[in-house]
Amino acid sequence: MSEIRQTWRAADYDKSARFVSDLAGPVLEWLAPRRGERILDLGCGDGVISEHLMRAGCRVTGVDVSRDMLEAARARGVPVVRASGEALPFEAEFDAVFSNAALHWMTAPGPVLEGVFRALRPGGRFVAEMGGHGNVAAIITAMRAVARARGGDESLAGPWFFPTPRIYGEMLERAGFKVRRIELIPRPTRLDCGMAAWLKTFRGVFFEQFGADAPLARAEVEDLLRPVLCDEKGEWTADYVRLRFEAVKDGA
Ligand code: BEZ
Repeated sequence: MSEIRQTWRAADYDKSARFVSDLAGPVLEWLAPRRGERILDLGCGDGVISEHLMRAGCRVTGVDVSRDMLEAARARGVPVVRASGEALPFEAEFDAVFSNAALHWMTAPGPVLEGVFRALRPGGRFVAEMGGHGNVAAIITAMRAVARARGGDESLAGPWFFPTPRIYGEMLERAGFKVRRIELIPRPTRLDCGMAAWLKTFRGVFFEQFGADAPLARAEVEDLLRPVLCDEKGEWTADYVRLRFEAVKDGA
């Protein structure tokens, strides 16, 4: 079994992962939030997007498991609830559930989708973007190669859930949703923070298995990736692929 065990520190996230919320424009367009709507931001992180939705006049609740991230969201004035995505405690309370770059961390999608469905009022919508099939494939492959060469645990390289539109569409329908649209979108993403910081922020657990050799293992992963993800100016791009969808709970 692979292990996620991701811990989030809001300050690191702000330094190395701000691009995640900066690139949320298209999925926010799909959400098309209206003034007065009650919106659940699932996996709200440090609350940057929740705050944006509040400024647009929505009544937002942010939900996340990371205490550090929730503290940062609370500091922005976002009302938050600490809960796992797999055990959402809401009942017909929201006009929309929104999620950006969080669902792929939730590796039991069945309970997540059931909880989202329960949280929506009849007619409510679920609009989200997550890593899709093929997301960060080169990065995962390089980590696996380094683990294999070092006799480490390859499964720690890529514990995420990156489904195809067909698989996720079927899961949404099984949970009771009607899928309005679902798309797989390659989105190569420039990493201003560089690859080493990305690896540290998002896959520290993988490198911890190498103990004092962690920096060396990280350099080996970078070396493998340089020919495909780094340009001649030394700028890194991650091979992101997004799965974006809009689904509704029928019965308004
Ligand atoms: C993503 O947003 O696609 C992602 C971020 C960190 C690790 C893996 C995937």
